[in-house]
Amino acid sequence: MKAVQILLPIVLLALASSLASAYDPSPLQDFCVAINDTKNGVFVNGKFCKDPKLANANDFFFKGLNKPGNTSNAVGSRVTQVNVQQILGLNTLGVSLARIDFAPKGLNPPHIHPRASEILVVEEGTLYVGFVTSNTENRLFTKVLKKGDVFVFPIGLIHFQLNVGDGNAVAFAGLSSQNPGVITIANAVFGSNPPISPDVLTKAFQVDKNVVNYLQKQF
Ligand SMILES: *[C@@H]1O[C@H](CO)[C@@H](O)[C@H](O)[C@H]1NC(C)=O
Ligand SMILES: *[C@@H]1O[C@H](CO)[C@@H](O)[C@H](O)[C@H]1NC(C)=O
Repeated sequence: MKAVQILLPIVLLALASSLASAYDPSPLQDFCVAINDTKNGVFVNGKFCKDPKLANANDFFFKGLNKPGNTSNAVGSRVTQVNVQQILGLNTLGVSLARIDFAPKGLNPPHIHPRASEILVVEEGTLYVGFVTSNTENRLFTKVLKKGDVFVFPIGLIHFQLNVGDGNAVAFAGLSSQNPGVITIANAVFGSNPPISPDVLTKAFQVDKNVVNYLQKQF
């Protein structure tokens, strides 16, 4: 069954990342199903808990990760996140999941998760993946992954995945946060709102103003 093929790696990933020391604070109760109320003016580290008596199985359930994401966009990839926004029962549990679809030559562009390490398994296709260490060395670690191969991206480091196979590619990722966050480097640097002053970017990237203007126009 296709569903079993897809679900097995997900279960293994969830298990693996909960065995690892989670980055988010440990729960102080069995569970804390979040109240889905963005209008509330009080902020806590996480979400408020629903009365446990009112929790039910649907608070811990998500359907549809078998569906491919739409990769018709500039980078040819799509991340479908399954974090505390989709499963309120993940609140305080320090774990989440994502499905990543790639068109041929599709790229999940260089990005970081400020709050999570990531463990990725390839379900279909061939991916060239990598991460770069911090400024002491800026060392690049890369690998070409095939179906069934697993790779780890340590918390906070810039990483990417490029489809180098002939067809589509699909991967699933376990992340050590209920809310890993994502900062796509190109978008954050050249597509911020309002834009970063070209004086900052020309010096930072050691290029002239036309190059910076050109890059800012892409976002
Ligand atoms: C995929 O996204 C493109 C661009 O936004 C859109 O035109 C197309 O209808 C979408 N396809 C599906 C199947 O949703
Ligand atoms: C939570 O609320 C947001 C915004 O109203 C909605 O898009 C989302 O589907 C809700 N999530 C759940 C799991 O109910």
